[in-house]
Amino acid sequence: MRLVLLGPPGSGKGTQATRLKDELQIPHISTGDLLRAEVAAGSELGLAAKEVMARGELVSDEILLGMIRSRLSREDVANGFILDGYPRNVAQANALEALLADINQPLQAVVQLDVANELLVERIAGRAKAEGREDDNPESVRKRLQVYSDSTAPVIGFYEGRGSLAKVDGVGSLDEVFARIMAALGK
Ligand code: AP5
Repeated sequence: MRLVLLGPPGSGKGTQATRLKDELQIPHISTGDLLRAEVAAGSELGLAAKEVMARGELVSDEILLGMIRSRLSREDVANGFILDGYPRNVAQANALEALLADINQPLQAVVQLDVANELLVERIAGRAKAEGREDDNPESVRKRLQVYSDSTAPVIGFYEGRGSLAKVDGVGSLDEVFARIMAALGK
């Protein structure tokens, strides 16, 4: 299964991708996690991304495409993958489509998790207390939600136009949301 999980910050992409990974036995590829690993390692890429991420803005399409290209060239994606956090704008959606066409591995499903903004803010505030992620402060969260509505929401229309989008209600227990995603995938 080659799957993209779309949704605003805090909608549960990472949480559900972890479960899907175990259920479907395919890797979970989170561009946020890949970038945070670069920041933690103090690499050149991490240094370039650090401040941009802390502000809640998007890291450059060029950096992201390089990261995704390299990750999708690994052998463990032979049976599929779950992309979480990519694509995040229409340029990235086009780049991904071209990249997957090149390796003859087109997407099979795109699941959009739907959660109202007030609940997103509440969930992220909870995580901020528990984990202290640098971009979970109120100012960066506002920015991330704005970036989602300006740049990422148009990606929904991109995939709707290709007939591959399934909308899933992301409100409910972790088990309920997981069951809805599996049903949307026909599993
Ligand atoms: P990224 O790490 O992708 O962050 P995000 O999209 O803001 O997503 P989050 O991790 O906040 O939310 P999530 O949907 O995964 O929810 P989660 O499961 O964690 O990106 C971070 C930054 O990296 C970006 O701002 C950007 O700078 C950069 N970046 C990444 N990709 C990029 C790209 N492609 N292009 C350019 N820049 C890029 O859940 C959130 C909380 O809610 C958790 O505490 C969880 O326990 C809780 N929760 C989850 N589900 C439920 C539920 N059903 N009920 C109650 N609580 C729940």
